[in-house]
Amino acid sequence: MGDDMKYTDEYKESKKESVKGFIYADASPYPIVQVQEKNCLYGRMMLDNIGGANSEMSAISLYVYNNLLFEKESELSRIFHKISVVEMHHLEIFGRIARLMGKNPRLWTQRGNRMVYWSPAYNQYPMEIESLLKNALLGEEKAVQKYEEQCNIIKDEYIVACLKRIIKDEKLHIEIFKELSKKYSQ
Ligand SMILES: [Fe+2]
Repeated sequence: MGDDMKYTDEYKESKKESVKGFIYADASPYPIVQVQEKNCLYGRMMLDNIGGANSEMSAISLYVYNNLLFEKESELSRIFHKISVVEMHHLEIFGRIARLMGKNPRLWTQRGNRMVYWSPAYNQYPMEIESLLKNALLGEEKAVQKYEEQCNIIKDEYIVACLKRIIKDEKLHIEIFKELSKKYSQ
């Protein structure tokens, strides 16, 4: 009974969102997370996607912060929350690939021969609405650029399929932030 209630609520929720006109994740399914074979370089790339400067962890933390800047249940707080959940899914996918590559999926990346933990200092935290949206947009654009570069380097078709699927979500986020920038610009 509890579950029924939950699904009803979620359904109402998704209708409300579609009325608002924003979709936070592409409708196509996520590929199965698998790899052709262990590859150390690909594993390092996945770690960097999780815990490097330009990473899912940076996006999640920025969106959690932005969510807190706006009043609870306001449009912008809800949108940042919704997008942060999609980024968490991306982090999980990269983390699972990193594991399959034999990597320890801490929130860290390899620089030279040492491991560097992720830091909240990687982010900029503008508080004024226009620059805040611009900053979020820039992060998404950098993510797309990074993942597209990885698609050109990585020869493992399973990993490339995951990257391409994740790029679709990031491109939706770019559209959302562009729309919001228009809406909230003076
Ligand atoms: Fe994103």
